[in-house]
Amino acid sequence: MTPDGRPAPEVPVITIDGPTASGKGTIALGVARALGWHTLDSGALYRTLARAAMTRGVALDDPEALARLAAALSIGFAGDALTADGQAVGDEIRQEAVGAAASRIAVYPAVRACLLPAQRAAARTPGLVADGRDMGTVVFPRADLKVFLTASAASRAMRRHKQLIEKGFSANFDDLLQDLQERDARDASREHAPLQAAPEAVVLDSTHLDIHETIERVLQEWHRRVG
Ligand code: DC
Repeated sequence: MTPDGRPAPEVPVITIDGPTASGKGTIALGVARALGWHTLDSGALYRTLARAAMTRGVALDDPEALARLAAALSIGFAGDALTADGQAVGDEIRQEAVGAAASRIAVYPAVRACLLPAQRAAARTPGLVADGRDMGTVVFPRADLKVFLTASAASRAMRRHKQLIEKGFSANFDDLLQDLQERDARDASREHAPLQAAPEAVVLDSTHLDIHETIERVLQEWHRRVG
């Protein structure tokens, strides 16, 4: 990775940005598997820091304390798996309360700056599929293909509900929908690195596409570019 955020020339990067529960993670994984590439779930970094703040009593509205915590935590990777303090990060970061806390701490530029180097270091050969909110706009501005994945709020809440139940968490659809709309509004309206499509991004609405079809659409875009 070069200092200006450009992947080293031999490392191709596909970015997939979009709102909460748009299926970015699943699509990124499917595309990466098809291409034999690495993945970066950037939301997991924000969630890991948020969860650490919650368990250690660090205020979610204190950017300096959060930045100190981020530096002390040493968030990194073992392969594509996320680690904090050398320990694998598990499903505990998937709870809704942790996602909401992640969205709150993500508004602070000091927090975002702390998490930037680990995200850029994830670009390794043979390639990276990175998902999040600002992958195409801030973290990998020179990415080879940028996708912006959307879906209606109701269908995203439905998917999230199914996911949580499958993981053994309790979930209420109406609460999920409201939380998701609040989170969308905060992520899209924040001053630094807001959720928005890069001008050159391919916008994909997956409301009426299944996982397989969505992955295929991204792969088609990729193959159209590389010929
Ligand atoms: O994708 P996710 O739901 O796991 O992300 C959790 C929160 O982290 C999201 O609401 C906002 C923040 N986030 C961010 O600000 N930038 C990213 N690239 C990824 C996530």
